[in-house]
Amino acid sequence: MALTDYQTALVTGASSGIGAATVQMLAARGLKVHAVARRLDRLLALKECGDVVPHALDMQERDALYDVLGDLDVDILVNSAGVGSQFDPFQELDPDKIDATLTTNVAGTVHAVRAVSPGMVAQGRGHIVNIGSIFGLHAISTAVYGASKAAVHRFSQDLRHDLKGSGIRVTEVSPGRAATEIFATMTDDAKAQGAMVDGFEIITAEDVAEAVVWALDQPWRVNVSLIELTATEQIPGGVTIHPVTSR
Ligand SMILES: NC(=O)c1ccc[n+]([C@@H]2O[C@H](COP(=O)([O-])OP(=O)(O)OC[C@H]3O[C@@H](n4cnc5c(N)ncnc54)[C@H](OP(=O)(O)O)[C@@H]3O)[C@@H](O)[C@H]2O)c1
Repeated sequence: MALTDYQTALVTGASSGIGAATVQMLAARGLKVHAVARRLDRLLALKECGDVVPHALDMQERDALYDVLGDLDVDILVNSAGVGSQFDPFQELDPDKIDATLTTNVAGTVHAVRAVSPGMVAQGRGHIVNIGSIFGLHAISTAVYGASKAAVHRFSQDLRHDLKGSGIRVTEVSPGRAATEIFATMTDDAKAQGAMVDGFEIITAEDVAEAVVWALDQPWRVNVSLIELTATEQIPGGVTIHPVTSR
C-alpha cells in the first residue's frame, strides 16, 4: 500500500506550515487532497498545486467537524491542525487558551479520526498520520501543550490496537522546533517569535512533510508507528553535564 495505491487524502491544519507542505507534496504526487483549516483564502491558494478541495472548518466545533469530515471518503488522514504552547508561566495562563490548546490538539485530532475511520474500515484500508511533538515524548516545558501532545502520542499508539485487523495503518510524526507560523499562536511578541527560529538551523515544514510522505509511501507490510525528528542542534531536554563532585 505505497502512496501510489492511495487516491484521496484529507489534511487538517492545511493553511500553513507542516499541513500546507503536506498538501503540496501529496497533490504533486497526483492525489486528490481535501484541505481543512479556518483561513479559506490560504486553502484556496493551494488549488494551484493540483486537485485540492478546500474546507473552511474550526476543529474546535465538534458538530461542524463531523458534518464536513464525516461525508468524505479518504484513504489518508493527516492531522496537522494544532496550536502552540503559551510562553506565560503556567499559573498565569489564560483559561481560554488552555481550552483552545486541548480542544484543538487533542479533541480535534480524536474526532477527525472518529469521523473518517468508518469509511476506511468499510474499504478495508487507510492510513492515519497524527502530528505530535517532541513535547509529547519528553518532559521539556509548557505542561498544557506537553499534555496535549502526550495525549496525541498515547492516542496514536493505542489506535493501532483499536484498529488492528482493519487494514488501517497509524503513524505518529513528532517533530522538534520547525520554522512555521506556530510561534505567532504562542506569543504576540515579535522578538520572542524571532528567538524561536534564530540561533541554530531549525528544521522546515517541508522536512516534516517529507517524513509524513515517506511513512505513507512504505509498502503494505510496513507500519511506521513513530518518527521523531529534530534539528541536528536541538536535543530534547537540553541536558547540561556538570562534573561529578560527590555521590
Ligand atoms: N512548528 C513546530 O515547531 C512544531 C513542532 C512540533 C509539533 N508541531 C505540530 O505541528 C502541527 C502543525 O503546526 P505548524 O508548525 O505547521 O504550525 P502552523 O503553521 O501554525 O499551522 C497550524 C495549522 O493548524 C490550523 N489550526 C489551528 N487551529 C485550528 C482550528 N481551531 N481549526 C482548524 N485549524 C486550525 C491552522 O489553520 P487556521 O489558523 O487557518 O485555522 C494552521 O493551518 C501542530 O499540531 C503543531 O503542534 C509543530
